[in-house]
Parts: sequence; C-alpha cells; structure tokens
Amino acid sequence: MEGTQETANMRTETWTASDQLIFFVNGRKIIEKNVDPEMSLLTYLRRKVGLTGTKLGCAEGGCGACTVMLSKYQTHTKQLLHYAINACLAPLCSLHMVAVTTVEGLGSVARKLHPVQERIAKSHGSQCGFCTPGIVMSMYALLRNNPIPKMADMEEAFQGNLCRCTGYRPILEGYKTFTMEGGCCGGRGQKDGCCMMNGSEALRDSKDSDEVTSLFNTADFAPFDPTQEVIFPPELMNLSKGQRSCSLCFHGERATWLQPSSLEEFLLLKWRHPEARVVVGNTEVGVEVKFKNMVYPVILSPAFVPELNTVTHTEDGIVFGAACTLSHMGAVLRQAVKTLPPHQTEVFRAVLEQLRWFAGQQIRNVAAVGGNIMTASPISDLNPVFMAAGCKLTLMDKDTSREVQMDDSFFTGYRKTVVRPQEILVSVHIPYSKKFQFVSAFKQSPRREDDISIVTTAMSVTFAPGTEVVEDIRLSYGGMAPTTVLAKKTANKLLGRQWGEELLQEACLSLAEEMTLDPSAPGGMVTYRRTLTLSLFYKFFLTVLQKLRLQGVGTQEVSSDCVSATEVYQPETPSGIQIYQAVPEGQSQDDVVGRPMMHLSALKQATGEAVYCDDIPLYENELYLVLITSTKAHARILSVDVSAAKRCPGVVCCLFADDVPGSNITGVKQDETVFADGQVSCVGHIIGAVVADTQVHAQRAAKAVKIQYEELQPIVTIQEAIAARSFYEPIRTLQSGDLEAGFKQAQHTLEGEIHIGGQEHFYLETYVTLAVPRGEDGEMELFVSTQSPSDSQCIVAQALGVPANRVLVRVKRMGGGFGGKESRTTALSTVVAVAANKLKRPVRCMLDRDEDMLITGGRHPFYGKYKVGFLNSGKVVALDVSLYSNAGNSTDLSLAIMERALFHMENSYSIPNIRGQGFMCRTNLPSNTAFRGFGGPQGMMVAESWITDVAHSLGRSAEEVRRLNLYVEGEPTPYNQVLHGVTLDRCWDECLSRSGYEQRRAAVDLHNRQNRWTKRGLSVVPTKFGISFTATFLNQAGALVHIYKDGSVLMTHGGTEMGQGLHTKMVQVASRVLGIPSSKIHISETSTNTVANTSPTAASASSDLNGAAVCNACEILLKRLEPFKTKNPRGSWEDWVKAAYFERVNLSANGFFKTPDLGYSFDTNSGRAFNYFSYGVACSEVEIDCLTGAHKNLKTTIVMDVGLSLNPAIDIGQVEGGFMQGLGLFTLEELHYSPQGVLLTRGPGSYKIPAFGDIPKQLTVSLLRDAPNDKAIFASKAVGEPPLFLASSIFYAIKDAIMAARAESGITGPFRLDSPASAERIRIACSDRFTKLCPPAEPGTFRPWSVQV
Ligand SMILES: Cc1cc2nc3c(=O)[nH]c(=O)nc-3n(C[C@H](O)[C@H](O)[C@H](O)COP(=O)(O)OP(=O)(O)OC[C@H]3O[C@@H](n4cnc5c(N)ncnc54)[C@H](O)[C@@H]3O)c2cc1C
Ligand code: FES
Ligand code: FES
Repeated sequence: MEGTQETANMRTETWTASDQLIFFVNGRKIIEKNVDPEMSLLTYLRRKVGLTGTKLGCAEGGCGACTVMLSKYQTHTKQLLHYAINACLAPLCSLHMVAVTTVEGLGSVARKLHPVQERIAKSHGSQCGFCTPGIVMSMYALLRNNPIPKMADMEEAFQGNLCRCTGYRPILEGYKTFTMEGGCCGGRGQKDGCCMMNGSEALRDSKDSDEVTSLFNTADFAPFDPTQEVIFPPELMNLSKGQRSCSLCFHGERATWLQPSSLEEFLLLKWRHPEARVVVGNTEVGVEVKFKNMVYPVILSPAFVPELNTVTHTEDGIVFGAACTLSHMGAVLRQAVKTLPPHQTEVFRAVLEQLRWFAGQQIRNVAAVGGNIMTASPISDLNPVFMAAGCKLTLMDKDTSREVQMDDSFFTGYRKTVVRPQEILVSVHIPYSKKFQFVSAFKQSPRREDDISIVTTAMSVTFAPGTEVVEDIRLSYGGMAPTTVLAKKTANKLLGRQWGEELLQEACLSLAEEMTLDPSAPGGMVTYRRTLTLSLFYKFFLTVLQKLRLQGVGTQEVSSDCVSATEVYQPETPSGIQIYQAVPEGQSQDDVVGRPMMHLSALKQATGEAVYCDDIPLYENELYLVLITSTKAHARILSVDVSAAKRCPGVVCCLFADDVPGSNITGVKQDETVFADGQVSCVGHIIGAVVADTQVHAQRAAKAVKIQYEELQPIVTIQEAIAARSFYEPIRTLQSGDLEAGFKQAQHTLEGEIHIGGQEHFYLETYVTLAVPRGEDGEMELFVSTQSPSDSQCIVAQALGVPANRVLVRVKRMGGGFGGKESRTTALSTVVAVAANKLKRPVRCMLDRDEDMLITGGRHPFYGKYKVGFLNSGKVVALDVSLYSNAGNSTDLSLAIMERALFHMENSYSIPNIRGQGFMCRTNLPSNTAFRGFGGPQGMMVAESWITDVAHSLGRSAEEVRRLNLYVEGEPTPYNQVLHGVTLDRCWDECLSRSGYEQRRAAVDLHNRQNRWTKRGLSVVPTKFGISFTATFLNQAGALVHIYKDGSVLMTHGGTEMGQGLHTKMVQVASRVLGIPSSKIHISETSTNTVANTSPTAASASSDLNGAAVCNACEILLKRLEPFKTKNPRGSWEDWVKAAYFERVNLSANGFFKTPDLGYSFDTNSGRAFNYFSYGVACSEVEIDCLTGAHKNLKTTIVMDVGLSLNPAIDIGQVEGGFMQGLGLFTLEELHYSPQGVLLTRGPGSYKIPAFGDIPKQLTVSLLRDAPNDKAIFASKAVGEPPLFLASSIFYAIKDAIMAARAESGITGPFRLDSPASAERIRIACSDRFTKLCPPAEPGTFRPWSVQV
C-alpha cells in the first residue's frame, strides 16, 4: 500500500500502518507525510499554511484565541459533526479524515463577510481584535449545529473564550441577533429571507429626545442564511464512507504516533510500549509537554478503536468507552435524564452539574472521560462523582480484562492509579441511582467558568426505604489531598443515624478532623479549603432534607431563610443599556465626530485579515529567539554551561552580556541590564538567549542551558521590604492643610490598612519583536508590539551602539497593551535586535504566555496604612496615609506611578488636612510597571477603604458619608489645583436615580433579612481621574498628514493602536477638520521615521494630544487649500487638491501640540499637575454565597463624564472594558508568588481574568450629557483609564454584603478586606459556625505555599 510503512521501533513483531495524514483545511485537501506528532494544528496553520487568522494566546487551551471548527462524518450514525476546538492543543496527527474550518474559511473583507464576522464588528465587539477570530469560530460552530440557538447556548459556547478589551457585553449584544431571544428567524421565518432585512433600530430614541440607547443598527447587518454555509467536502464524505479506518503511524524528531484501528492492535501496542501515553484530547498531555518539559516518545491514539468510543446502555447504568468526549457524555446523560425516572438519574445529574463548569466547550469537545480518570488529578471534577457513585472501570491488557471499583483504593498516590503500565482503561460504568439515594456534586473555583477547582466534591447518601435513617453514605473530595479521597471515618460515624441537626453537628466536627491539610499544602488557601468541606456538606445536608420532604419521608423542613443555600447557580442572560447624547440636529452625515463609528479595523479583525506582529510572513532566512531567564530571585551567577544547548538541533548561537555591541545598561531609569551581568535580581531576569531555526528548537535548547547560582536572601513582599527599609529614592510626600490641627478638630479617629494585589496585563497578544537588519550603515528595522515606538528606538539604538536615526520601529497594531507594552517591551526588543545585529539575519520572538507573565511585570501591588480623623456627621477633617508599592527589581515607571497614587489618595473627597507618603519597595520581583490607571486605582482604593471604615464606625451608610465628603466646584486638591467644571455631583445624582438606589437598598435589606446564607450588598463609588502625563515633557504629540494627488489622505500620528480605537478617533478628527468623508483617510501604522520623539500611547491622553496635533496638521493643509476652494467653490475636494498640486503647493504637513500650563513641583506643592479631570460614579449590587464565598454581579449602573464624546461606541467600549478589568483587579485576579519569589500563576489555567459570565447581569452605562470640556479636542475627555476604578463599587458592595453576614454572627464595625475580594477572602470574612471549626494555623509556624507580595 502506498504510504504504508512498517513502524521502526516495534519490539517484537512488525505492524503495518499508513504514514499519510489526509485532512481538509477550508475545503482544500491536504496530504501530509512525515507529520511530527508534537506539532499542533495551530503551528501548522500559522507557520505551514500561512493562515494567521487563528491566534496564539496561551497554548494551554485557556483563552480560546486559537478556536477553529472541526467537522467529521460519523459513519455509524451517518451524521456530520461540527465542533469548536482549541487548535493550540490539537495534535496535527489527530486530524485524519477531518475538515478544519478557520476564520479565513468563513469570509473576508475582500470577498464577502460571513454574518458572524460582520455582526461582532458592527456591534463594536472587537477592540484589539486578538480574541475576535476565536470568538467568531465559537459562534460559527454553534450556528452550524443550531441555527437559532438560545442565549444560554451561546453563553455556553463562549465559556472557553476570553477577551481582555471589550467587557464582553457588545459581543453578546451583537450575537444576540442570531438567537431566539434576539428574535432572529435564522433565515427561515420571513418571506423575504432573514428578519434582519427588515429590522431597523433608529439611532435616536425619539424625536423629542437627544438621548440615544443603541450603538449599532441591525438594519446594517447582512441576513444570515444557514443554508448557504460552506459544505462539508464531498470528497471527504466519500473517503469517510468508503474507507474502513486504517492504522496510522507518524514519526517525529522525538515522538512516534501510533493510531491502530482495532482494540486488539491497540492492546498489543500498549503491551509493547508500556510507557506509551494514550492521547485523546491531549488536554493533559499537551500541557505536560509544553509546560512541564515532558517528553513522550510513543503516543497511542484510540480514535479508531470502536470499543473505546461507544456508549452502551445496560440494565443498571450506562457504559462509556474511555475515549468518549465529555461533550458526548453530557449529551447522552442529558437524554437519559429526560427519559428515565428521576430517582434513577441522581448520579447522572451530579455528573452533568460538574460538566457544566468543566473547562470550556472547546476542551469538552475533545477531552475524554478516560483522560480525566487516568490523569488522576486530585482536583479532577469527575472522579469525586465516580467515586461517590461507585462507578466501575473495565481495564484490559493484551491477555486479560478486569473490572475495578472506583473507590479510595483506585488512586494510589499523586497522579497514580492501580492501572498497570500494559493496561488501558476501556470503559467506565456509571450506575443508575436507587430509590432513596440522593447525590449532589459541588465545585468551588476562583472563577465560575472554565476554571479548575479549589475543592470539588460529590456526596451520595442512601436511606433505609421510607425512613430518614442513613443506610449508606459516601463523601468524596477533591482538592483536599494528593488524590481524590473519601471521608470514610465521617461516613462510618453517620451510618444508621437520623438525617437531622445532630447528624449535621457530628458530620461537621468529624469532617473538620478528617479533612485536614498541612498549612504549607500546595495550592494554599488551607483554611478556606477546610471550611469548604464543611460548608459544602451543609449544602448537601439541606438539599437532602428538601428531597426527603419532597418524597414524603422527611419530618423536618428547611427553614425559609436557608432555602437559598440549596439553590444551584443558574446563569442569567446579561442585559445592558447604553445611553449617550445624539449629535446636534443638522450635523452633516459626513461629519462622524460624536457618532458611534465602528473601529476601523474591526471587520479585518473579525475575518483574520488584520495583521499583527507575529502574523508577518517569515523571512526566508529568519531565526527564532528564546530567552534564558533566572530561576532564582536573588543570586550570583557562578557559571553558565551552554554545551548541551549548542548540541541541540537547529541551534545557531547563544547570546549573553558580552554580545551587546553598545551599552548593556538599559531601562527607563538606566538601572537595568539587557542581559544579567553576574547577578540576578528576580526570577525571570534575562540572562541570555538562544537563537535557532525554529521556535521549538530554540525552546528545547534554552531548557538545556545549565546555570549554577549562589543564592542570596531575596526580599519578596512589601512587608519584608518595610522591615529591611528596602526603598527606592525618593520617598514622596504630598501634604496640605494642618494635619495636627485636623486631628485635634476630629471627634473620632480610626486607623486601618488594606493590601491591594497586583494584576497581570493579560493582553491577548504577548510581547513580540521581529528585527530585520537592513545590511548597511547599521540600519535595523523592528516590528514591535509596543505602546512606545520612540522609546524602543532609543533603547535599541543604545544597545546596538548606533544613533537613533539607524533604528526604525514600526507598529501596525497591538493585540492589547493596557500599559504593559509601555516601557517593558524594550527588554525583549533589545535582545532580539542584538541577536539580529550579531547574526545579520532577521530574528523573531513572541513570548509564550508563561514567559510573558513571568518576565514582564504587572500592576504594582500596594499596601496602604491610614489614620483618619472625622466628625460625628461623617465629614473627614484629617487624613494621614502611607502608600507602599512593590516596585520589583528596577525603578521603571514606579516613581510616576507612586506620584499618581498620591495624586489620587483622596479620590473624590475634599479633605482639608491631609498628608500622603509614598514608598516604592525595592524587591526581588520582576519590575512592576504601568497598567491602566497607573497607580491611581490603588491610591483611590485606599481612600474607599477609609471612607467605608468611617461609615461603619459611625453606623451610617457609606453612601451618605461619601456624598457628604464629595468635592464641589472651586475646591482645591491636596496638590493645590483648584477644581473647575466638577461634574461629580451630577454623575452621582444621575447614577443614584438611574440605578433606583433607594428602592434597591430597601430590596437588599429585605433580602438580607430573609436569607441567612446568601447576602446582598450595594455600593456607590465615585472617581476623579487627573488627565495628563505627570512628567510634563511627555505632554506633546506630533502628526504628519499627506494629501495625495487623487485626494486620498495618508495620516500618521504619534499614537499607537492597541484596540482602544485611537486611529478611528483620529480619522474622525481629520475628517471633520478637512471636511471630507472618513473613507478618504487612511492610517497605515505608527513609525519612528514619520513622527519623531513620540510619547508613549498612555495616560489616557493620546486622543487629546494626538487629536490636537492631527487637527493642527489638517488646519495647516486646509489653509493651503483655502485659495483653491475660494476660487472654485463648487469644486470637489479632489478638484482643489489637484489644483493645489499643479500650483506646487506642499500637500504634506506636520502638526504639533503641547498641553499648555502644566508643571507641578513636589518641592513647592504648586503648579498644575493635570490639564483637567474625568469624573464618574458607579452603583453596583452583588449577592454573595456566604457558605462558599462565591458572588454574583447583579447590577451595575455607571455614569461617566467623557465630555462631548468623540465616538460613543468607542467610549462606551472603553468604559465597559475598563470596568471589567477593574472587576478582575478587585474581585478575581490573584497572582501567587512562593516565599522564594517564584511566580506560581503563569497562564490562564491558574490566573483568572473575567470571563463572559462575570459581567453584571444588568449593566447600564450612561455618558453624562451636556458636559463639554474646553481643555481637549472637540470638547471631549479622556476615557481609557478613568472608568477602571469604578469596578471598586463591586468590591465595596461585596464588603457591604459581608457586613450583613457578619451581623448574623453578632460582629459589627469596620473590618479589613484586602483586594481582590476573592471567594476565599469573602468566605473567611463571613465568620460563622463552620469557619470556627477550621481555625487558621498560627502565622510564623509554617512556610506558606504563597505569600502576599
Ligand atoms: C483549559 C483546560 C481546562 C480544564 N478544565 C478542567 C476541569 O474543569 N476539570 C477537570 O477535572 N479537568 C480539567 N482539565 C483537565 C483535562 O481536560 C481533563 O482531565 C480531560 O478529561 C483529559 O482528557 P484528554 O482526553 O484530553 O486527556 P489526554 O491528555 O489525551 O490524556 C490524559 C492522560 O490520560 C491517559 N489516558 C487517557 N485515556 C486513557 C485510557 N483509555 N487508558 C489509559 N490511559 C489513558 C493518558 O495516557 C494521559 O496520561 C482541563 C484542561 C485544560 C487544558
Ligand atoms: S491559544 Fe489555544 S486556547 Fe489559548
Ligand atoms: S478585543 Fe478581545 S482581547 Fe482585545
């Protein structure tokens, strides 16, 4: 047979298999020989086929950026299956006879857009666009299976997709038009095709009002006709029908892939290769290979083995082949639940409950049930259910078959089972439940969607028929030991007992004793985990009480205030309202300023045509670079051994400090090195780099470099830095009024503290640089994903030892920045440029997500300590606050960040006597850096902590105290800037009325009176954010505008596009000034050879600065064109341009702008720090589950003053996106560091940014109307950073709810709650009978797994 080979390393007999992989990509047939088993579909698509629309965001199945659709013809059911998967984890080898559809396969701007692409763009659901192709593909796969889905289906389809920019609402809104709730007919319901043809929403609510509540018009959407979809390749259908699955074998550099077509062969191969990994979804193995350096030389795929893929219904349950995917298992169980009597399906429903929160759809579509069991992870979500239910497993080797019970003897140790190396798991039998058996499963994780468990549990109890007497009980826990465990001692104690309060007492006491954890246990959260074992049992206890009662057996009723503790979380479809002011009547249609114009690249982003840095095609002789970084936080480097690395295939060279031709000193404050010089000061410190022909070769070689260290004592936390007085200079003080007099005047004083954790930027596109030496005069061209092209240029030139005029930095767009690409990107760019310079070849590097998280720093953690003096009324008269930031191992932007924190230490409150001191802690963490808000949110967070304490100590509502202290027009700030144009009061009043604050407060109080275990909280928080760079010189911008002979305009300015819509706004500005439609204006990129000495795109000021520069350039040009317009008033733009050209008029102009009257001095506490302020107020309501610490974001109302909005769609997008990032910061995102300074959270698997399900269920965003700002372009205001802090309203609503919970235990008054308000912190703060049974270990008596840095 052609393409058939005898596999090389068969030990005894030979085995024939084909080495041809046949599959289709976007309808094109591909036959590949010599496929490397370690190559992912994503690498293949991007590097081999050149389809770069599918993005790499994490390589671990956690972000969805790489989502594609697979289609298969299933011969036995004669069904076409379509499903979304993560291309980053899918082995290319697994795609035999599969059709792959990528985002390019749906449509393109040039050809025709698919409605799925068009609608996300037009509904403003794409900002940076890096997540967009993945989201498009998840939606497309859903529609292929279900042309009119429900909103709930859609939300389920998006469980595995993340977006860091949009805040998700616009995506859901745009795609709602496909759903039943959105009223779409799916192309079927209407005579004239899709209802979208007829639907039209006016962009003005009514004639009498200038208030608008829609940002897009569904009439602009092309209709969706599911019958017009790309068909499954007929050839593949025939191939699939005709061909009996043949065995496959592929050999790669390090691994062999064996895919036999019968069980017999499979068992034989496993017998010959006991070390072989069985791979189905590769969702475990893929992650192990990528991140744990595992090498698996033999991979066995059971895809063609029928016995492992079938489902059999038996007398007492259902048997699932071990390779059945979780999605398939879910579908079968759902069907069974529908058809069988309820008492038989208790186990099935528990499995389904776990599956609801198991990973995302893309993972569930490929991951196998057998893979979950056999991985034997202690936090597996299914194993506890299988164990509690007494499932049976069938194991086989070549000669024998045996059945084992899944009980506590099945797992023999961490990730170990009784299954022998030659054996495989063939199937799992899930039994029907019996009458009087009740089963529940619970999973608690930091985030609800797509997250791994902290504690996961299943509980099964069987009663003697017709009684409340326990006959059998099994309590199975994950996350409490190195394996899934059964709480056997407790279960034994409960046998024969009556289900009642006494049993509950006994169970809790016993579980607290049995389910212990070492205080240093991996994963941390020890007290929380122990408490959860009891709390979850209590939930089970109540649930069973209810069920007994329902069956007419129970004698006790669950009291009404406890019922909510038994409710299973059901997601509600979020809804949103966006309100903004319409443009004045009569504004020309061509004048797009003030209109919700779509992001200019949105359509290309949705089709995958938008080119990001790593999408640039490979240069012919291009090389790949991988960094060598320190594994120690503080150490002297004793030796570096690269001999093994140099022997690795494909390696070209290794680079170290000696290879830097210019200066090895670098960084914002020149206190860093390009490569470490003898000493390292953080884990992730760049020591060297390896350059090779491909990324995998460079990565393997980098891992082979051996470095010996002499370890030195690290300083990791702020508290350690304070103890060692390890601070960077200067220590800043900002003071006004008379502090002593203020405290004397005060009727009360209180002291408090708060720690605010750091935050990872998690831009979807990690750091990338491509450096191309130009071959003459030391010229180097760099394509960089950076917010600071000019800084990159200068710093690279310094490292190369050439003048800046030899280095060209070009930025087309970024896949998100958020401050993370302001200063730190130079760390990578310099190294890549040094390599390209040395080798005289193009060199590329895109950091992997784990490297990016490890190396590039994030938002500064802050610790705030305060003393506040106040009157009986709640008026604050004195404040003394000390702020400490964890700056890390270099200064970077820490001083400016600390200064901004001090400038915002009073948030929106007028405090007559105030002192703030700012200390930047020098620690052995990677240098922390800019992040949206730039220290402002941290400063304001401390303010909100003391104002809440004041209210709590007076027993008043926090809102009353906040309102009382709010700034009013004409008051001075602590830095002596008198406030003009204050709109805080207007924002506050509008927010309270739009949110229905009074009624909500009453409803919250009522809920809290009626419910013991769920509590609601409400909070209103204002923000005032100063706009300008605090380094005065940065407040400048340039623009260059060319008008070509045909009338088209090419514009460039100093700002970069990272998704925030800056280029769109700049085109709007130019369009208005030049008086031409925006379609005539193009921005190609930002580059250092068009606009020189640009400031970073940061500080929210880029529209103000660059907008004014663009305006300036356009006005110059307009002036030059004026004579031609006068001469030919009826002529067109093109006529005037042509005439001017023939008159030899210069049609290129430079624009420039600098913000006037700025310049604050800390020495004199005088001079204007800010050009103006942006204001906003948010009101949030939440509900916490006091037993688990989980919370729901119920409702948020935001009123934001953005002046006269340049583009309401972009501005509302910034408000919502900023708010969601703040929500992550204050409630969810937690970086864990070991006491040795090692970052433990290095990817989406362990670091959770908000997902679709975290949006407030009702979100109203209103842009304050009639609020022109005379300090910025066209009366607009900055919007990028100011709204982020408003998410603290959720934090303080949580704190409000915790207050109510504590009151139930008789605890009142102020209490400390650190940020983020994670489930762990919420649970522990809700002190009750269960927490009391699990006291924390004495601090200092153990070494914790992670420390608060
Ligand atoms: C993003 C992401 C989210 C996740 N979320 C969750 C979650 O919420 N809950 C959870 O419990 N897990 C989760 N996981 C873990 C993982 O998805 C599951 O364990 C999954 O079921 C593994 O199946 P697989 O087919 O992909 O395994 P593979 O990676 O293909 O294989 C896993 C292991 O099982 C062995 N194996 C597989 N089948 C057999 C067999 N028949 N006989 C013998 N050995 C076999 C393999 O040799 C291998 O060691 C997540 C993983 C990722 C990447
Ligand atoms: S890149 Fe595949 S899920 Fe993130
Ligand atoms: S638009 Fe979603 S990550 Fe940027």
